[in-house]
Amino acid sequence: METATQTYRSYAEAYEKSIQDPEGFWGEQARQIAWFEEPKQILTTDENGFYRWFAGGKLNTAYLALDYHVENGRADQTALIYDSPVTNTIRKYSYREFRDMVARFAGALHGLGVGKGDTVVIYMPVIPEAVVAMLACARLGAIHSVVFGGFAPHELTVRIDDARPKVVISASCGIEFDKHIPYKPLLDKALNDSKHKPEHTIILQRPYVVADMQPGRDLDYVDVLQKAQPVEPVPVDAHDPLYILYTSGTTGKPKGIVRDNGGHAVALKFSMKAVYGVDPGDVFWAASDVGWAVGHSYLVYAPLIHGCTTVLFEGKPVRTPDAGTFWRIIMQHDVKVLFTAPTAIRAIKKEDPEGIEKIKYDLPSLKYLFLAGERCDPATYYWAKDLLRIPVVDHWWQTESGWPMVANMVGYGLKPAKPGSAGLPVCGYKVEILGEEGQELIPAQEGYVAVKLPLPPGCLPTLWEDNDRFYKSYLDRFPGYYMTGDGGYMDEDGYIYIMGRIDDVINVSGHRLSTGEMEEMVASHPAVAECAVVGIADDLRGQRPIGLVVLKDGQNISEEQIEQELIAMIREKIGAVAYFRNALIVKRLPKTRSGKILRKILRNIADGVHYAIPSTIDDPAILTEIHDDLKERKIGNAFLE
Ligand code: COA
Ligand code: AMP
Repeated sequence: METATQTYRSYAEAYEKSIQDPEGFWGEQARQIAWFEEPKQILTTDENGFYRWFAGGKLNTAYLALDYHVENGRADQTALIYDSPVTNTIRKYSYREFRDMVARFAGALHGLGVGKGDTVVIYMPVIPEAVVAMLACARLGAIHSVVFGGFAPHELTVRIDDARPKVVISASCGIEFDKHIPYKPLLDKALNDSKHKPEHTIILQRPYVVADMQPGRDLDYVDVLQKAQPVEPVPVDAHDPLYILYTSGTTGKPKGIVRDNGGHAVALKFSMKAVYGVDPGDVFWAASDVGWAVGHSYLVYAPLIHGCTTVLFEGKPVRTPDAGTFWRIIMQHDVKVLFTAPTAIRAIKKEDPEGIEKIKYDLPSLKYLFLAGERCDPATYYWAKDLLRIPVVDHWWQTESGWPMVANMVGYGLKPAKPGSAGLPVCGYKVEILGEEGQELIPAQEGYVAVKLPLPPGCLPTLWEDNDRFYKSYLDRFPGYYMTGDGGYMDEDGYIYIMGRIDDVINVSGHRLSTGEMEEMVASHPAVAECAVVGIADDLRGQRPIGLVVLKDGQNISEEQIEQELIAMIREKIGAVAYFRNALIVKRLPKTRSGKILRKILRNIADGVHYAIPSTIDDPAILTEIHDDLKERKIGNAFLE
């Protein structure tokens, strides 16, 4: 079959076609996947006026990811390599084996009454059973919602109440370095606190921690599997949801990003060659957690739909067992493309600045390193490039898009990289930089990064059961555009520089979190009158949150005590990944005269970045006081001046 990229001679030609004739372009790409019934229309709008792709098409995503390859000569090719230094395990599954496991587990879910359109929550570590669970749902036309294993019970409760799953699938534990994290008590607490009670849970008992089971509700993974019969893939409509993935918004209620089956399969298939330059049969490794969008798209769905071998890594870039783990895996499994977050590279660089570990491994298979999840600072870019001597490709995307929006599309030939820039718009994304009034800005002017509608296939068609929030969060601000929530600029050559979020979202170790949500939690402390939580620069994690609190009159709690209580609170409610480690008591928060907290200035003070004092500020003296407090406590970079 001709690959999509061969149709066009260059990136410019393909991009132009995708923007000028989206239906023509995506109609061609749609022919690259095996539909049960071809779409009747390529692009339509629904009753809400939202764009939808491939109306009338029928398919099954698990079929495309597994059965299709079994039927077309890849049955014995390795589909998935599970490499788990934390359990000392390497296991390989052929496409046939994996298809059989998924078909059987789908049968188990079916036996519990899960069918097309039902929801299933998956709260698991990075293990093959998590991927099996996702694909089993897809096989049945059920909608999975994977919750990142690092989230605390409260976050799980919120998601369970929103998705209302029929079944929750979990494991007895996850493993963080040498620590076993029992998941079942976290799940029990979440289910105890949730309003919605799923009929069953299925628990995989890992040998390291044995979970207590609640008779009647909790079922053993192995038991249900043994009793199950395999089932065939269920045809679904292109518009039917494949999954919901919750992501942080600006409030305590996460956004349920919906991914449909048709657009998702077409976009991911296209991206594998066009963006990542990989062919069927190649080994592709996204070093991510299944709980994140990268894990969904590039650990599970895209490499399998494309007929690649995917690597599932249960470990960390360092200390599992050392800073050479990534290089060992690449060599041992002949990885062609590694996709990870800049944080992971910074972690390796911190432990092995001279790259001594790398010398132990020959990496002839590795062609590209792709980085995303947060801004890639030029120092990290150059360190990785010098160490690996291959192209390092920064690229930008979001949970909402589900695949890259800006990249160096290596499938059309590598273009010169500009460190600090995520590259050029990907086919289908007309990225523009807009000013306050929605006007297009000239090169080098920083503004709102927006994408002209329609978004290409694969992007969120809406939010789970909340069209109104979808509209208000993304479409309302600039009519005719999707507002990404990022700020940035474009240079004369059309390269895009993403400078960070313009809302209350931060990225801690590549994990997207809401400072708005943390603020709501901090504000609930009985001693706190008002507060601000802002993300400050962190050498390893990219960003980390700190809290500034104003105490209620008459409270005389010490700074140390309230800090400890707030740290414990955020850890218990969101999870240790939030990495909330500092809280300061301040007399007042810096505000404009109209009462808006000047969060950007707080960030600038902590980061040691120059800032202009706005004329609308209520009380400029407070800025100096906060600066001096941060400096005294050596928080952020304020003390470096
Ligand atoms: N389950 C349970 N707990 C988790 C967890 C998980 N999946 N992930 C992290 N945590 C915990 C850690 O154990 C740690 O707990 P502690 O405070 O008790 O020690 C805490 O959350 C903070 O974790 P983290 O920020 O990850 O720090 P770390 O020192 O454990 O590891 C890195 C640092 C950089 C190695 C790690 O964050 C990393 O690998 N980052 C890359 C992230 C990534 O690939 N993101 C993909 C998005 S594209
Ligand atoms: P997530 O939804 O978790 O994928 O996080 C999306 C956010 O991460 C984006 O809105 C950006 O703020 C940030 N991000 C992702 N990739 C990049 C990148 N390459 N450069 C800069 N920021 C990025």
